[in-house]
Amino acid sequence: MFDDLTDNEFELFSKLIYTKAGINLHTGKKELLRARLAKRLRSSNFHNFQEYYDYVLQDKSGEELVRLLDSVSTNLTSFFRESKHFQFLADEVLPGLLADKKRGGKIRIWSAGCSSGEEPYSLIITILEHKAITPTLNLKILATDISTRVLATAEQGIYPEERCKDININILKKFFQKGQGRWQGYVQVKPVVKNCIQFMRHNLMEPYPWKEPMDIIFCRNVMIYFDKNTQDRVVNSFYSALGEGGYLFIGHSESLTGIKHAFKYARPTVYQKK
Ligand SMILES: C[S@@+](CC[C@H](N)C(=O)[O-])C[C@H]1O[C@@H](n2cnc3c(N)ncnc32)[C@H](O)[C@@H]1O
Repeated sequence: MFDDLTDNEFELFSKLIYTKAGINLHTGKKELLRARLAKRLRSSNFHNFQEYYDYVLQDKSGEELVRLLDSVSTNLTSFFRESKHFQFLADEVLPGLLADKKRGGKIRIWSAGCSSGEEPYSLIITILEHKAITPTLNLKILATDISTRVLATAEQGIYPEERCKDININILKKFFQKGQGRWQGYVQVKPVVKNCIQFMRHNLMEPYPWKEPMDIIFCRNVMIYFDKNTQDRVVNSFYSALGEGGYLFIGHSESLTGIKHAFKYARPTVYQKK
């Protein structure tokens, strides 16, 4: 059952996914899309792909579209992924922000495409561990993703110990609680870390809804799924969202080459608005 997704059906779904989420599914992804859709069809008793497609379009609540996008997003992530970014943040970016008397300890960060939360939690830990932090630290991280499924995990902040095996043991003891009983084998992020984060579903195709300017944006390994036009739009909306001097971090395999933007190059995969 659901063994065949016709070329026409693939095109319908990929166009819809591209229009709504900017995610560019080329034909090499047809089998992946078929397998993921088939799962959804089976669990909700749809008879075929066309019936499901029609249902997504006519569902005024938009919930089925959220589920569809959930099922096609790629959410691979890990704690302190691409660790050089966290080093640069600690060595070069934070000292300036923390020493700036006018901002009174205020730091605003956006983790855009935060997946299951490892990235924003790593950001907070990096800041809380910084030798220059003061009692006036006023840190808020906005962590957003299009997928409600990964956001639910992020908000819980519970991870199998295996996922934390590369975290320094002292950091692990300080910021994570070991699970007991039925949670044996898991750790949970402590409230001191969680309390700095606001998790929210946000689609990068939609206008940026916050007024406060950001100091730092991490959008890593997200734009890789977008085509150049979409990347262009998203990068320029990041530029508007940042305050003067703010930084944009992108994934190590990504680049802004070929995109028209006003960022200054700071170092590989790091850009500054100035
Ligand atoms: C591979 S993960 C990257 C996670 C993390 N930033 C990292 O580098 O480890 C990509 C994330 O981008 C999200 N994403 C894809 N398209 C999006 C969109 N249009 N708006 C917001 N998030 C999106 C996916 O749901 C997924 O969780």
